[in-house]
Amino acid sequence: MTFPSPEAITVVTGGAAGIGGATSRRLARRGDRIVLNDIDAEAAEHTAGEIRAAGGRCEVVVGDVTNPAVVATIRAVAEEAGPVEVLVNNVGDFRPAKRDFVHSSPAQWQRMHELNLLHVLHLTHALLPGMIERGRGAIVNVSTVEAFRGIPGHSVYSAYNAGVSAFTKSLAVEVARHGIRVNAIAPDLADSEQTPAALMIGDRDPGRVPTWVPIGRFGHVDEYAAVVEFLSSEAASYVTGHTIPVDGGTLAASGWYARVDGKGWTNFPREA
Ligand SMILES: NC(=O)c1ccc[n+]([C@@H]2O[C@H](COP(=O)([O-])OP(=O)(O)OC[C@H]3O[C@@H](n4cnc5c(N)ncnc54)[C@H](O)[C@@H]3O)[C@@H](O)[C@H]2O)c1
Repeated sequence: MTFPSPEAITVVTGGAAGIGGATSRRLARRGDRIVLNDIDAEAAEHTAGEIRAAGGRCEVVVGDVTNPAVVATIRAVAEEAGPVEVLVNNVGDFRPAKRDFVHSSPAQWQRMHELNLLHVLHLTHALLPGMIERGRGAIVNVSTVEAFRGIPGHSVYSAYNAGVSAFTKSLAVEVARHGIRVNAIAPDLADSEQTPAALMIGDRDPGRVPTWVPIGRFGHVDEYAAVVEFLSSEAASYVTGHTIPVDGGTLAASGWYARVDGKGWTNFPREA
């Protein structure tokens, strides 16, 4: 039987914009019936409208996925529409705690926990029993390269995303026998609403981006969605428990920069 099956439901959180928006659109093009959750009602209806206009199927659940009542509604709407086979836990954000750790507050850590890890547990916990019952499922979580590479100023974000990747690994082992695969992607440098390339580059020379990112540019959101599509497809039927970096090579380069003069590489920023 093909995976996902034609009658099955795919749930995407934060599915209106950015990587989540590209994922909703791409999986709808594949033929998935999408249940799109997003906190932004207007953006959600816009994306759902585009999906339907292109011949796809999409239902919207507006609300903050960190709210357990919204998780319950996502479950009710999705399971009413059909069996859930694909879950993309995409919501995450580094912005609520962007100061260095010593200046951050427990209230910020709490919000970072809710936004980056806790809702992944809640929604997975809500949808997993149905997947286990049918013996079919693919869960794709969205982590970050900072789960693997340090990032000053974002230790709390990086800790909770390391949690997402560790959860991915251990849950994959636990549920593999039920026909369910659990993987994640670790993005870097998506040109999305959260991290627009223009804002990230600021007043610096955009010509220097290739000294920093081996592939030489920021990522298009659909390039991340393409890996989510792969991980949630039959093509990845023997892949589970992994976090795949989708980063233009930054994690592999870690600390190495192409020289501006084009003469090789440096790990000394003053030579970059
Ligand atoms: N942009 C990057 O370079 C990058 C790098 C590493 C990791 N990530 C991760 O990728 C994921 C997507 O990032 P993005 O850049 O596409 O984000 P984005 O902010 O551009 O888009 C996020 C989407 O989720 C929705 N959303 C936000 N909070 C929500 C909530 N509480 N409940 C429901 N919906 C909510 C937003 O309305 C929006 O539609 C996040 O988990 C992020 O941490 C992104």
